[in-house]
Amino acid sequence: MNSNPKNPGSPRSRTKTNFPGISITSTPPADPVLQALKAAAGFTSGETLAARLGLSRMAVWKRINRLKALGYVIEGSPRLGYRLLEAPDKLLPEEIVHGLQTQFLRGPVHYFESLPSTNDRAKELAAAGAPEGTLVVAEGQSAGRGRLGRQWESPPGLGLYVSLLLRPPLPPHELPQITLTTAVAVARALERAAGAAPEIKWPNDLLLAGKKVGGILTEMETESDQIRYLVVGLGLNVNNREFPEEIAGTATSLALALGRSFVRAPLLQTWLEEFEGLYQRFLARQFPAILEEWKRYAVTLGTRVTVRQGPALIRGLARDVAPDGSLLIETAPGEVVRVTSGEIVS
Ligand code: BTN
Repeated sequence: MNSNPKNPGSPRSRTKTNFPGISITSTPPADPVLQALKAAAGFTSGETLAARLGLSRMAVWKRINRLKALGYVIEGSPRLGYRLLEAPDKLLPEEIVHGLQTQFLRGPVHYFESLPSTNDRAKELAAAGAPEGTLVVAEGQSAGRGRLGRQWESPPGLGLYVSLLLRPPLPPHELPQITLTTAVAVARALERAAGAAPEIKWPNDLLLAGKKVGGILTEMETESDQIRYLVVGLGLNVNNREFPEEIAGTATSLALALGRSFVRAPLLQTWLEEFEGLYQRFLARQFPAILEEWKRYAVTLGTRVTVRQGPALIRGLARDVAPDGSLLIETAPGEVVRVTSGEIVS
């Protein structure tokens, strides 16, 4: 056996890491052997694969072993060749890139079995010059971060923990708008890929049946009033069947809300596809239309809310979201307070 699960990268797709477990960095296209096996209806001989892909038979065999080590179930027959029986429910670069319908948000994908936080890793990569579209995904996080200094529950293999690196040529004050745009992309993805009926709670909590299924943590680095890079971190509870006591009453997952489990890679692909289209429109100064769509998903508008902003509580009627993404709360007749950060607590 050639495959070593600790270092399964092919020569074209390899990275070193200080984090435990598997890590893979892959730039599209995905592994050609895997693509060929996925495209084939039945068995494909090693000879055919080698000839078609311009590889030696040894190289094909090595790639097959690497795929098996990653969790792909591949049947091998001395007479017939290889047949893909099952792909693992992992967020492997191959699974993300295969069939992904995006133009420019397509990696490189940095995959980790476990990370403290995908946002932290993405910021390190960004600082080192990684390009727009870089994705960091982890099967689990040991120190996943939420908004307002909270922890993000990130049990291995159950959710999406992903950070996308962007380099928009924009001033920092447009950050809230990008975050709202991201939330619309998640809502659309939940509808399209899961058949769910999501709602958004200002600014960017994704809800199913009133409980939180996902959240977005956007972080940026600026340079002379220009965004140098932006990391959009998405956490989505997918196949969780239970939550820690503290959040059990307020959190949900796709599996709990919809009564079935989900393969995670297609959810991530759908979010990327939706986000890319919206991000292009955002860059083309079409945020007003995106905001209108955000409002159609919004649960909070038109209701009485309490917003916690630092130590202060602001109570009133959530009137609207302003073009800059801030929440407008009518605290008394004719008195409107503009809230740029914080959270709706009730
Ligand atoms: C929220 O508080 O609602 C935002 C949660 C964001 C969690 C995601 S998981 C992937 C990325 N890495 C992190 O450490 N946080 C974000």
